[in-house]
Amino acid sequence: MKKINLNECRTLFLDFFEARDHVRLKSFSLVPEDDPSLLLINAGMAPLKLYFMGEKKMAKNRATSSQCCVRTADIDNVGKTARHGTFFEMLGNFSFGDYFKREAIHWAWTFLTEEIGLDKDRLWVSVFIEDDEAYGIWKDEIGIPTDRILKLGKEDNFWELDQGPCGPCSEIHYDRGPAYGEGSNPTENSDRFMEIWNLVFTQFDRQSDGTTYIPLAHPNIDTGMGLERLALITEDKDNIFELEEFMPLREKIEELSGKKYGQSQKVDESMRIIIDHSKAMTFLIHDGVVPSNEGRGYILRRLIRRAYRHGKLLGIEGEFLTKTMSQVIPVYKEEYPGLTESRDRIFKIAVREEENFQKTIDQGLELLESRLAQVEESGEKVLSGEDAFKLYDTYGFPLDLTWEITKERGIEVDEEAFHKMMEDQRIQSRTNRKGGHGWEDKKVLDLTAYPSTDFTGYESFRGQGKVLALFHEGKETERLEAGQEGQALLDQTPFYGEGGGQVGDRGYLEGQGWKARVLDTQKDKDDHYIHVLEVLEGTLSVGDDLEALLDRDFRRDVMKNHSATHLLNKALHQVLGGHVNQAGSYVDDRRLRFDFSHYEAMTDREIEEVEAIVNRAIYEAYPVHTDILPLKEAMETGAIGIFEDKYKDHVRVVSMGDFSKELCGGTHVENTARIGSFRILFEQGISSGIRRIEAVTGRAAYEMARDDRETIRHAEDLIKVGGSNLEEKILKLLDENKKLKRSLASMESKMAQDLSKELESRTLEVEGFTLVKDHLSGKTMDELKGTADALKEGKEKMILVLASDLDGKVFWVVSMDEAAVKAGGHAGKLVKELAQITGGNGGGRPNFATAGGKDPGAIDEALAKLEDRLKEQLK
Ligand code: ALA
Repeated sequence: MKKINLNECRTLFLDFFEARDHVRLKSFSLVPEDDPSLLLINAGMAPLKLYFMGEKKMAKNRATSSQCCVRTADIDNVGKTARHGTFFEMLGNFSFGDYFKREAIHWAWTFLTEEIGLDKDRLWVSVFIEDDEAYGIWKDEIGIPTDRILKLGKEDNFWELDQGPCGPCSEIHYDRGPAYGEGSNPTENSDRFMEIWNLVFTQFDRQSDGTTYIPLAHPNIDTGMGLERLALITEDKDNIFELEEFMPLREKIEELSGKKYGQSQKVDESMRIIIDHSKAMTFLIHDGVVPSNEGRGYILRRLIRRAYRHGKLLGIEGEFLTKTMSQVIPVYKEEYPGLTESRDRIFKIAVREEENFQKTIDQGLELLESRLAQVEESGEKVLSGEDAFKLYDTYGFPLDLTWEITKERGIEVDEEAFHKMMEDQRIQSRTNRKGGHGWEDKKVLDLTAYPSTDFTGYESFRGQGKVLALFHEGKETERLEAGQEGQALLDQTPFYGEGGGQVGDRGYLEGQGWKARVLDTQKDKDDHYIHVLEVLEGTLSVGDDLEALLDRDFRRDVMKNHSATHLLNKALHQVLGGHVNQAGSYVDDRRLRFDFSHYEAMTDREIEEVEAIVNRAIYEAYPVHTDILPLKEAMETGAIGIFEDKYKDHVRVVSMGDFSKELCGGTHVENTARIGSFRILFEQGISSGIRRIEAVTGRAAYEMARDDRETIRHAEDLIKVGGSNLEEKILKLLDENKKLKRSLASMESKMAQDLSKELESRTLEVEGFTLVKDHLSGKTMDELKGTADALKEGKEKMILVLASDLDGKVFWVVSMDEAAVKAGGHAGKLVKELAQITGGNGGGRPNFATAGGKDPGAIDEALAKLEDRLKEQLK
């Protein structure tokens, strides 16, 4: 066998079928066009469904392509087996009602054994158990010994997608020899026998219900051969990741990680995953997919994050994916020159996603690691839905990634609980949220014996303190060790305890020889501040002195959001009126949520106005000032806000210049200018008479603006038409589109006219009348009637008989003019006779009638009998 590399295999294949009169197609985009049944193109035939169904036609009824595909169903096998990849190219030859089984089988055999030179004795085939025809062709015409032809059932040898053209198939397998694994035939799942080519005899159109199969008007051929799999045989490599084209990519990963391929199973798997995913993400972004939390965007996000994590496992520091992707483009640049052009855009999008994930992955992995250790210790084998949700929500771990990590340790994820939390988050106000770290535990803690905690965090981000009490799993304890989680009650603290809609603080506690991370802070009605923590190093004990350090960035973002909430409250009063009352609020580091009473949806103008007022108050740089006043006096100042009974006789009044005055126990920026910027995300109703606004400030508002700009740039990149700005470009595109539609319509009408002319040429004389008869394919009844109308126009002594077959059905239209009817002609009777020959029935008026049938094969027979029948009528 000659040595043939990946790119050469592709060319040989396409040339082979082009020489056999196939249209050579370019790979279609991975994003399906007008096919909601599919997220991503996953087979060579997927973009061609309409051709198989006869709804679209090409210049020839046969085509060939090397189609880029992404499949993630087997993502867990990627890197573990020789042949699974999420990204691959599928070589295919297709017949749209043209040739069928015989040619498909013969050509496949010729290509593999003569063009590529595979050893005939290593090839096995399988056929659908009821397909005697295919079996016969393989056995008698090709001459494969019967012990290498397997007859298999529907699970193995019937190929289909969720929807669309499908049918029985015949697979070709290559035996790589016993060195590659166990098994004595291809039904045994090993790397020894590799399926390389699937010949599908497409005969049905599977409906969206998944159970109805409608026979197609013509049988088709759809074949698919994995290019990478073929190349691994012709390059004589162990697996698809070791193809010579991917060597520079692998070397890059080795260089970045300092590890060597072949050094261990784990290293190899991670490298292979990065090789595969780098290809997939390059092509996905090239085709316009951007990372997001749903649909194909989620698939991309998952691939990027998964690759990134395997980079971490290999010890690669920082962002690296553009470096591996740089090695992908040269492999494909000849066949896909567009990749080079979109290189910058591809990299920008990948880097942004990588950066986002990089920020949180370490913390997320740390959390997961400590949870897994607990789960293992408890012998439970299940990671809670809450933990999985937290990893998703706070640390950006796609659920599958969490699964992958837990599975490596034999632990399951409580997916049901995870999905429930997702749902809850969607519908439930976080104001009522109880979850979080140990909040449930805290409620059962008995703290009455302890003095309340002094809160020092209005003024300062750090402070001293002493451990008054420690708790572990709901019980009091003297100490907490490294790796343990628990709660600490302190005598004084700068950590804000969740309340008044403001989230609890995070940060660190440090004492002599120990350090703990504070994940959340809660307080009870007697102002006992509970720090939910995990001990990172050493042991902390009751009585220890400590230094408390807030996570400053977190707290600053929270303060910005909280102060902005006051400005928003005031702005809503100004714009909507005095009836607006706060109905709840929730503020954390990422966004603010404000619920208020109002009877109708806000208009876009009102929303814009509120946003503008808040931003103005930010630019005005109002100083923020706090007074502690007796409640009565506070009310007299006109302060608004929710009165919480814990303020008892004295309350805090927070003023922002003269603009806003509210009762509030929360923490705030010292000047409104610090908020930076304010942007409303949405306004919506949550119950009768209660509306909700969510908004972002500061960094998040900037990031949103930046993302918007990216989106616009991306859109600009995609719309490569003249014009200086996006609107102009879009207008130009719309205009072009309109013109194209117009020229298409005029072409269609010209085609219809040509058809009429052609039909006229099939005109006969019968008893002094002009008879036009024809068998047209692929026309609906309406189209047939339209053609009849066009033909009749201005003609005399005219009889028309048209038949069409579409999806296994037959349509008839018969039309006679007045003269023909007078002479005894009867369209209704004639159509009935014709329809009966084609397995149907029908009838109608003497001058015009339609009918249907079920046997397209009998149309020509009916037409042949037509003249005699007509002569009888006109006698
Ligand atoms: N459509 C067939 C497959 O994907 C050829 O296997």
